[in-house]
Amino acid sequence: MAILHGGQLSRVALQYNIPETQWLDLSTGIAPFSYPITDIPLKVWQDLPTVSEQFLHVAKQYYQAQYCWPVSGSQALIEKLPALWRKKHPSAGHVYLPKVGYKEHQHAWQQAGYELHFYQKNLPKTLHENAVVVVINPNNPLTDTFSIKQLSQLQQRCDIQNSLLIIDEAFADIFEPAFSFVTQIKADTDNVIVLRSFGKFFGLAGLRIGFACCSLSWFEIIKTTSGPWAVNGPALYIAEQALQDKSWQQAQTKRLQTQSQQLQSLLESALMVSRIEANALFMTVFLDNAPAIYDQLCQKAIYVRLTDENDALRFGIADEIQLARLRLLLEPSSLIKQ
Ligand SMILES: Cc1ncc(COP(=O)(O)O)c(C=O)c1O
Repeated sequence: MAILHGGQLSRVALQYNIPETQWLDLSTGIAPFSYPITDIPLKVWQDLPTVSEQFLHVAKQYYQAQYCWPVSGSQALIEKLPALWRKKHPSAGHVYLPKVGYKEHQHAWQQAGYELHFYQKNLPKTLHENAVVVVINPNNPLTDTFSIKQLSQLQQRCDIQNSLLIIDEAFADIFEPAFSFVTQIKADTDNVIVLRSFGKFFGLAGLRIGFACCSLSWFEIIKTTSGPWAVNGPALYIAEQALQDKSWQQAQTKRLQTQSQQLQSLLESALMVSRIEANALFMTVFLDNAPAIYDQLCQKAIYVRLTDENDALRFGIADEIQLARLRLLLEPSSLIKQ
C-alpha cells in the first residue's frame, strides 16, 4: 500500500466534504516561499537534458561536495539504493533505520527483503556485516539532529563492518553549512552517501530534483545507473540559478526562521501544548489526543500531518497570509479543545 505523506489534499478534502480550494494546507515541510522562476528559454524545453560541467560546479559549491550527481528528487535514489547495495554486496541483508522518520526509507529496504532494525535517539552501536544505516538529519517529523562527531563515530563503526551509512539531509539547507556531513566525504569515502533534496528549502518540490553527494566510485555508480535523462532540463536550469543565488538563500533562511517562530508562538497559545519541536521548515506538536485535534483542525479546513504514531501533528511553515488565516481559525472563541 502507498505510504501517506503530507500533501495529497484531495483525499482529505473528499473525506471532510470541503472543496480543496478552501483548505489551508500546512501538511508538508516544503517552504511556502518558492524560488522565483524566470523565463525558461524554449531551448531548455526542446533539448534533451544534459548535466553540464557548469551545473556540477555550481551544485558542488552549494553542497560543499567533491562529487555529487543530480537525481529526480532524493526519493528516486531512496528507491534504488537497496538494489545498488545488494549488487555490491550480494550477501547484504540488514538495514538500521530510525523508528520514527520518513517512511519511504523503510518501505524501500523492506520491499527489497532486507531485515529491518530500528533505533531512535541513540545511533546503532553494533552492526551486522555489510549492513546499511540510514540516518535522517534532521529527522522528519521529530526534528532531532545528530552532530558531525556522532555521525563520524557511526561512520567508523560502519567502516569496521564494511557497512554503508546513508544520511538523508532533505531539510538540512536551513542550517549552517558546517551542519552537513558532506564536508566529511572525500573522493575515496566509499561508506557514506548523503542525500540532498532541492524542493524543500527552495519551495519547488514539484520540480523533482535532488542530489547524491558521495565518493568518486558511488558517483560513477549513481551516474551510470541513473540513465541519460533522469532529471528534466527545466529542473536543471532552475536549480543551477537557485543554487548560486546566495542573497535569495540568505533571505529565504531569514523568512523561514521568522515565520517558524511566529507559527510556534501561535500554536503554543492556541493549542496550549507544552512540547513543540521546531525548525525553520516544519514543527511537530506533541499531543495526548493528536487524532482528535487533527480531526477538529480538518473540520476547520486546516490540513496538517498526523504522524504515523498518532502522537503528534506536524505543521509546515505558513507564509504571512496563511498565518493570518490560521490565527483567525484558531481564535480563542473557537479554541481547539484537548
Ligand atoms: C526526510 C525526507 N527525505 C527525502 C524526501 C524526498 O524528497 P524529494 O524526493 O523531493 O527530494 C522527503 C520528502 O518528503 C523527506 O521528508
